[in-house]
Amino acid sequence: MSHIVAISGSPTLHSRTGRLVSDLLSRVAQETGGSARLIDIAELVSDLAIRSRADASSLLLDALHDVEQADLLIVGSPVYNGSYTGLFKHFIDLINYKSLLRVPVALIATGGSDRHAMVIDHQLRPLFGFFNAQVLPTGVFVSDSAYRDGYIRDPLLQERLSQLVQESVNALQTGVRIRDLSPA
Ligand SMILES: Cc1cc2nc3c(=O)[nH]c(=O)nc-3n(C[C@H](O)[C@H](O)[C@H](O)COP(=O)(O)O)c2cc1C
Repeated sequence: MSHIVAISGSPTLHSRTGRLVSDLLSRVAQETGGSARLIDIAELVSDLAIRSRADASSLLLDALHDVEQADLLIVGSPVYNGSYTGLFKHFIDLINYKSLLRVPVALIATGGSDRHAMVIDHQLRPLFGFFNAQVLPTGVFVSDSAYRDGYIRDPLLQERLSQLVQESVNALQTGVRIRDLSPA
């Protein structure tokens, strides 16, 4: 059974980013029958006040191990001052740099306006490029104005989200842990 892990990079509890990645996680898990785990940075805020992994709490270590074992990662962050959040980056800095080789990664970002929509291509993609992960072609940026009564009403945005779900499902079904085929 494949293991799907989603990370919400927002330090806010019950955040838009959290709901978005959680929804995507459920959809992909339902279609593939994989196991699902949501890692919410908002619940790890105090655990992240450390200098290195050697000081990590068992809660944080468990989350890091889960990311390193994932067959698919769904990653979302709100834009903070033009980039992903600092706490999200600190969490990623604690990940073993060899562990995400060719792992498919679905990318999402949320923001107050469309001004920073390119954060996915200019910042999140290069970050996972560093890990030699397999970033999926579609990235989805959702601005606060896309919500009406707590729901995303824009059909084009819904279409992009469905496309990202489909790419994630395909990557899991056809990828069959291709990272395991790479030389050690
Ligand atoms: C400290 C801070 C900085 C922000 N900076 C930006 C920004 O540079 N660009 C932007 O579009 N939105 C910015 N926002 C707005 C958030 O990205 C936006 O409200 C997002 O939907 C919040 O997601 P969340 O509910 O998952 O935390 C900022 C919000 C905060 C709190």
